[in-house]
Amino acid sequence: MELDIRFSGRPIGHEVRGVDLRHVDDATVDAIQRAFNQHGVLVFRDQQMTPAEQIAFSRRLGALDRFVLDRFNHPQHPEIFVVSNILEDGRPIGMADAGSYWHSDMWVSAKPPRGSMLYALEVPHGADGLPLGDTQFASTAYAYDTLPDDLKARIEDLEAVFSSRKYAEYVGHSTVKDVYTKEIVAAREQVKDRMITHRLVRRHPYTGRKCLYVVEGVISDIVGMSREESQPLLEQLLRHVVRPEVVYRHAWRVGDAVMWDNYAALHRATPDYDLPARRRMHRTTLAAPDTVAA
Ligand code: OGA
Ligand code: MN
Repeated sequence: MELDIRFSGRPIGHEVRGVDLRHVDDATVDAIQRAFNQHGVLVFRDQQMTPAEQIAFSRRLGALDRFVLDRFNHPQHPEIFVVSNILEDGRPIGMADAGSYWHSDMWVSAKPPRGSMLYALEVPHGADGLPLGDTQFASTAYAYDTLPDDLKARIEDLEAVFSSRKYAEYVGHSTVKDVYTKEIVAAREQVKDRMITHRLVRRHPYTGRKCLYVVEGVISDIVGMSREESQPLLEQLLRHVVRPEVVYRHAWRVGDAVMWDNYAALHRATPDYDLPARRRMHRTTLAAPDTVAA
């Protein structure tokens, strides 16, 4: 089985043509798994999936994970995390800003998920008719491969402290336009002191490729290094991952399903729209290997 893949001209963000994710045989699923591992971000246009169909396809790739804040999971299908700025009866139906900083998902977890599929149901547009709310992606595997050898050697065994407190300080100064319901404030309060150590260079569990593990604004320290030394190094690494010429920017159309590998890619949302322009996305989350199904 050969997939029809149209390359984006960037290290990631390739489009797979001719696949209806509701009707795929086992050989196609295998080919999608291989392409997903190899390329990190895949785009499928013109899909038409109900929540149950999106969950069913996602499950064929492996066990699912569930987003920690149940408040934003789909009421009938909690395997779906709703990303949306829409209010119903004054209450947000989903998380409005799922991350407008360069991140990989659930970095505060000891076992961050393998990846996600985000499926577009409503896409905001500007007065010029162009879509808003693009999502950008950058390859952490390509970034590692293209580091100079001396820098690779320098960071090989380093461990980084990912800190919720650092993150809270960081987003406090950004332009996050989330609707701060009491529940979100309470949930954030609960995790505000969390810290976890991850290696700066992690091996991809499926491909064995080395990937840079940096997230914008959340690494407070590198173990054994002063902040004066670590912060410029982290800044340099992040800038290297997200240099504009290697970033894939996805301009959404209704019916797009985009899958990202959470180890081999960073991503960020673009908060350049507001109500009455509506955005509604359904995300399924693929569990890390060895994780018990949600
Ligand atoms: C996410 C996410 C980006 C977007 O769902 O994890 O980062 O553009 N979404 O909504
Ligand atoms: Mn995300």
